[in-house]
Amino acid sequence: MPEKPFLTTRHGVLYQDDAINIMAAIQSNVIDTIFADPPFNLGKDYKNGFNDNLEEHLYFQWCTKWLQEGSRILKPGGAFFVYATPELAIRFGEIMRKRLVFRHWIALTMKGTYRRGNRLYPAHYALLYFTKGEPRVFNPLRVPIPVCRHCGKEIKDYGGHRDKLNPAGLNLTDFWDDTSPNRHAKFKVRHGVNELKLMIPERAILMSTNSGDIVLDPFGGGGSTYQAAEKNHRNWIGVELYDVEHIRKRLTEQFSDSINHMPQFNMSLLWKATKRRNVSL
Ligand SMILES: C[S@@+](CC[C@H](N)C(=O)[O-])C[C@H]1O[C@@H](n2cnc3c(N)ncnc32)[C@H](O)[C@@H]1O
Repeated sequence: MPEKPFLTTRHGVLYQDDAINIMAAIQSNVIDTIFADPPFNLGKDYKNGFNDNLEEHLYFQWCTKWLQEGSRILKPGGAFFVYATPELAIRFGEIMRKRLVFRHWIALTMKGTYRRGNRLYPAHYALLYFTKGEPRVFNPLRVPIPVCRHCGKEIKDYGGHRDKLNPAGLNLTDFWDDTSPNRHAKFKVRHGVNELKLMIPERAILMSTNSGDIVLDPFGGGGSTYQAAEKNHRNWIGVELYDVEHIRKRLTEQFSDSINHMPQFNMSLLWKATKRRNVSL
């Protein structure tokens, strides 16, 4: 049962709670986009008390639950993005396609991984992109024309058709090679724990929602999705079971005029009627 939120902003509400508790209390068909970057069960130390080393069958049981709940609470046409290793993404995709329609496996370059046993060197992560039926919103995005970071000149010549390119940039493809995390500790919000580059949730949000829509991220971590949503005037619901102080710090630094305001959307309408009377906000 969701208790009082840990914090609110003009656009968002963050609960310190279990992702499935919060999702299970939300009505069906009310969320526009879900962005989920779950723990991968690789035995990683999240430095927050979280056990990232479950038996495999228990981990997939748990993932099936949040994937099913997520699919239920999405609006028709809503989008569900899940960030994962290819090995997990292929399993998650199997679960998601029972209820949702596959749109893309976006490959994101991932540097700084290591080769295990007799495998290839892993160089990408997957961002699964499914929708509940035909997409409700699809905003095509553009990215800047790539330039050499040393000399500043454009890297490609576009086969002599440079003049035909849209000055707003190139169409975003399903291969993102500019998304590796900040390696330098001074750029990280949470030291010792990987967080996504802001542009990853931001692109997902911009592509699949319009201003005022509702985005849910059930695994808050360092809060990159909430920053991306707040910055782009999307309403958001956040959940993080363990350390939420990093998120408070980040949002306070970025949005000092918005933190602790009541959100502009009526969160209480999203709860299932049976639960509403016990819930704050
Ligand atoms: C990979 S991190 C998310 C990182 C985030 N996307 C970012 O960019 O900062 C996953 C987070 O899920 C949290 N978590 C694990 N189990 C959870 C649960 N049952 N409910 C809510 N959060 C959970 C972990 O504490 C961890 O911070």
